[in-house]
Amino acid sequence: MNAGRLLSVENLDVDFGVYRGRSRVLNGISFNVDKGEKLGLVGETGCGKTTTLRALMRVLDPNARCSGKILYTIAGQDKDIYAMNAAEMLRLRRTEMSMIFQDPTSALNPVFTVGEQISSVIRANLVAKQESFSKNSITEKAVKALADVFLPDPERILESYPFQLSGGMRQRICIAMSVATERNLLLADEPGTSLDVTIQDQILRLINTLVETKGMSFILVSHSLGVVRKTSDRICIMYGGTIVESARTADLFASPRHPYTRALLACVPKLGGAGIAEGIPGEMVNYINPPAGCRFHPRCTQAFRACREIQPRPVALGDGHAVSCHLYATGS
Ligand SMILES: Nc1ncnc2c1ncn2[C@@H]1O[C@H](COP(=O)(O)OP(=O)(O)O)[C@@H](O)[C@H]1O
Ligand SMILES: [Mg+2]
Repeated sequence: MNAGRLLSVENLDVDFGVYRGRSRVLNGISFNVDKGEKLGLVGETGCGKTTTLRALMRVLDPNARCSGKILYTIAGQDKDIYAMNAAEMLRLRRTEMSMIFQDPTSALNPVFTVGEQISSVIRANLVAKQESFSKNSITEKAVKALADVFLPDPERILESYPFQLSGGMRQRICIAMSVATERNLLLADEPGTSLDVTIQDQILRLINTLVETKGMSFILVSHSLGVVRKTSDRICIMYGGTIVESARTADLFASPRHPYTRALLACVPKLGGAGIAEGIPGEMVNYINPPAGCRFHPRCTQAFRACREIQPRPVALGDGHAVSCHLYATGS
């Protein structure tokens, strides 16, 4: 057990009840996040990134079934998130983790002012920590949070309704809300992708600076390798509800091992740094009837018999680099 560990996900499976049966989306997802570490989770649209984050927060849709272990370290003790009672879960969401969603508009309530919304987050956090507070101390924290995300004229913004602000400002407010109170883990789901590229870049840099100055652990989800490369210490590559490879950022780019990672990297220059897997021939996994063995095998140019029959387990290559691929398994 690593003393610096904050989160450990072990063998997470998630499936959804759909009208044609069960859609088996996440399949044996395992990864860790250390304290202060920045992890990037990358894969094409539909590979299960949002589902993974929602499983961590225990906010999956009601038709979801989830198994596996998610251990979170609080005060030196590992707690299984799925064994927590409602009060413990509430405290976890209000004091430990926070999440930035892809679409800032739907994350803000149109009928409350920005000030009311930020204040309610701050108040809920203080109540959960059983700390005393005054109205003034909450306003002070709200103003400080807006200053942290470089929003000018905080008094005016606190009085504004979300519709009175631009998309970029709304995204900044969502970020302010998620860092207005001290948290140990920040989850960000493709932040800023609904905004234009220059603003998206500013938003990512802003989140990165906040994470570093506050010493938070961070999981950044993106479909773009270029985006996570800039802000992650370590990267996990997802394909069809599985993690196919994980490594320190520099190692992943210097020596990608999994055929999918290699194909993804080969797509980057062609697509102007976007790293979109649509450049790889073949179709996305059908989760109702997923391929046996390795889920990537129907699209893999190097697949052999074992790939069609046996699900590959992670093979450790040293230095925290692991690949789930039969090409690297000794003795198979
Ligand atoms: N509530 C749900 N019911 C059925 N299928 C779902 C549900 N939520 C997500 N999915 C499916 O799970 C798969 C992964 O989705 P998602 O986690 O949103 O991927 P990503 O964030 O990587 O684009 C998709 O095929 C999506 O349609
Ligand atoms: Mg998503």
